[in-house]
Amino acid sequence: MFKKLKARWKVNELNLVLIITTFALGGSLCGYAGRKILLLTGLDKGAAWVVLYILLITLLWPLCVLIISIPLGQFAFFKRYLIKVWGKISGNRDNKAQPKTRIAIFASGGGSNAQKIIQHFAGSAETAIALIVCNKPGAGVLSIAAKAGIPTLLIERDRFFNGDHYLPELQAQEIDLVILAGFLWKMPVPLINTYPKRIINIHPALLPKYGGKGMYGDKVHEAVIAAGEKESGITIHYVDELYDHGEIIFQATCEIAPDDTAATLAQKIHALEHTHYPEVIAGIL
Ligand code: GRF
Repeated sequence: MFKKLKARWKVNELNLVLIITTFALGGSLCGYAGRKILLLTGLDKGAAWVVLYILLITLLWPLCVLIISIPLGQFAFFKRYLIKVWGKISGNRDNKAQPKTRIAIFASGGGSNAQKIIQHFAGSAETAIALIVCNKPGAGVLSIAAKAGIPTLLIERDRFFNGDHYLPELQAQEIDLVILAGFLWKMPVPLINTYPKRIINIHPALLPKYGGKGMYGDKVHEAVIAAGEKESGITIHYVDELYDHGEIIFQATCEIAPDDTAATLAQKIHALEHTHYPEVIAGIL
């Protein structure tokens, strides 16, 4: 059950404990406050008292959990949680109060895919590209993010693999979906478990062929051409613990001409990626 909650709320163990504590303390506080208020009215305990009490704690509960969440450092979570609950109660999914789905793009290269995704969702009422995560200082994707006014997070290997995997930063940004667009590091298992079926990658070939460790960039296209393939393409897939292995969501193909080189094939593949990746992400959302 706790594993499911961790994944659903996208939090680590410590935050889960703090969230559950907030629920418990917030509940007790609102029960206490409700009784105190009713005492002031001088009403005898009876049916009317019970009805009023239920009404009062229903109104007080959001306020109480928000108050408790501040010292426990869970305000951002509860603000978002309550907005979601309100969206459901009011039955209006398009309600302005409904929070946007927040995407983090992990990219470490030129960032042409990141750029297309940013353009696709610019001005969207439902989706925000909230964060660009990068492991290479000076990577092109960082200037794309700066131009678009999107916050960036430069990550270091040791903390990514052996520390807290930057989960606190992702949580602080309230990230719902992680999109890999030219990010070469393998995703650590705790990140995959925190975002089950919410981490998506694009690979520049038709998986399951031409994937795996070391298969990136021109190496993929060189291998495809060397094998005499007549077509190549792109694969968009969920990320699991293995390189280029998770469930396939979408594939598109292109022909390989006899005179194609790794460079010309890369151009065809990039064109396919730019057309389909933003659309497929939108479809998943
Ligand atoms: C793309 O070809 C993608 O398939 C691979 O990395 C490349 C990133 O290119 N995963 P760009 O940085 O988006 O131009």
